[in-house]
Amino acid sequence: MSEKTPPPDPIRPRSPLPKDNRTGNDRRGSDRRRSQHQAVESERRIGDRRKHDRRVEKTSPYHNLVRFLKEKGLYPHEKAYDQPDGAEVVFRGKSILSLASVDYFNFAQNPEIKKTACEAIRKYGAGGFSSRLSMGNLSIHMELEGALAEFMGKESVLIFNSGYLANLALITSLLPRNATIFLDQKCHLSIHHACLMSQKKYFRFSNNDMSDLERLLQKHRDEPEKWIVTLGVFSSNGLLAKLDEIAVLARKYKARIFIDDAHGIGVYGDRLRGAADHFGVLDEMDLIMCPFQMAFGNIGAFVVGKRYLLQAAHTDAWPYMFTYNIPPVSAASLLKALEILGREGREYQKKLWENVAYLRRALTEIGYKILNPNGHIIPILIGDDVKVCAFAQRLFHQGVWVQPFYYPAVPKGQATVRVTCTAGHTRSELDHAIRAFADASLWLATS
Ligand SMILES: Cc1ncc(COP(=O)(O)O)c(C=O)c1O
Repeated sequence: MSEKTPPPDPIRPRSPLPKDNRTGNDRRGSDRRRSQHQAVESERRIGDRRKHDRRVEKTSPYHNLVRFLKEKGLYPHEKAYDQPDGAEVVFRGKSILSLASVDYFNFAQNPEIKKTACEAIRKYGAGGFSSRLSMGNLSIHMELEGALAEFMGKESVLIFNSGYLANLALITSLLPRNATIFLDQKCHLSIHHACLMSQKKYFRFSNNDMSDLERLLQKHRDEPEKWIVTLGVFSSNGLLAKLDEIAVLARKYKARIFIDDAHGIGVYGDRLRGAADHFGVLDEMDLIMCPFQMAFGNIGAFVVGKRYLLQAAHTDAWPYMFTYNIPPVSAASLLKALEILGREGREYQKKLWENVAYLRRALTEIGYKILNPNGHIIPILIGDDVKVCAFAQRLFHQGVWVQPFYYPAVPKGQATVRVTCTAGHTRSELDHAIRAFADASLWLATS
């Protein structure tokens, strides 16, 4: 006979009495013990949570900053306006000029699109239906995907209910399991989050630094599935990604490319197809993601790419499968937006760039330090976290809404306001903003 000890019994130890034979008293006793145990557990958790909160409050510079800004009435993220109104917003009955919107062509307020939306509500109702794999797939969604494929000149399209989820789905589920990711450090947070969740190998390269990217590609050249991931236009500093150089590196190291072109599509390229179109490397992009809130003035996102990459979404991508589809009213509005872009998109694009050039020139003349030489996003360096909020507040009192960005959204000491204008701003609106910026610059110089 073998001397080995027998393997452990896979059946868990039984309760003293077989379950079915337990009396009411036994059951009440064990229920009581269980609820006592749960109470102790939950107290422990609440205690831990409070301890954690106190530790965070004490140590986190961000929490301290938020508390300080709130005390001083400078916290910029709790202002809720009542109504958008073209390039303006209505705040407590007063019109404020917005230089913070990324609805670049003002399509959210476009009368033709609003009319289409009203008709769609009459036909389909006001809300959504269900997830894509359930009752949420209407023929209008398929029509939208077809129109987007044509707009982008790509083989296959998927729509998602947000850009965040699209990035999550792509990186966690649609890139091959053995993918090694090389991502620009200034990618949107959703991409960093997705990489963390994906359990794939990933390496960050310095923002738009091609020698750093090449160093990493060279170091990991034997990895079988290399993916370079970047934004088309960096939302924090307005720079265009060097997609022409990235395409060269991708060819050299046999890597694929995925770009999140949220701020590029519509704004760049003769065919409005974004940053890759601008550099003439659209065919070399394996996947492109774009949220609908920018050039389309709506909600949701789309991804274009090779069919073989996207078809796995129906079986593998949880952020695609287990969430509601965009409502038909959005799909109908987006189809109308695409029709308008096809008809007069170049006009909108031209108007946007004229406004950007006008505003840039004036802000530079006033003496502001703009962090990029020519992008449509105009980030102005202010430096200090509190000062940037006070600066935004000052402009707000002059009737101009700008968005401050401070730690941890940007590194400490590099707080900026991000100024964005749209195709819909008139010259007199921009002149009003320029006067407010001139006044605020005097305040900056003396504060
Ligand atoms: C570059 C970029 N990617 C992704 C997103 C996320 O898109 P969504 O708001 O549709 O989730 C944003 C949103 O601002 C963005 O700027």
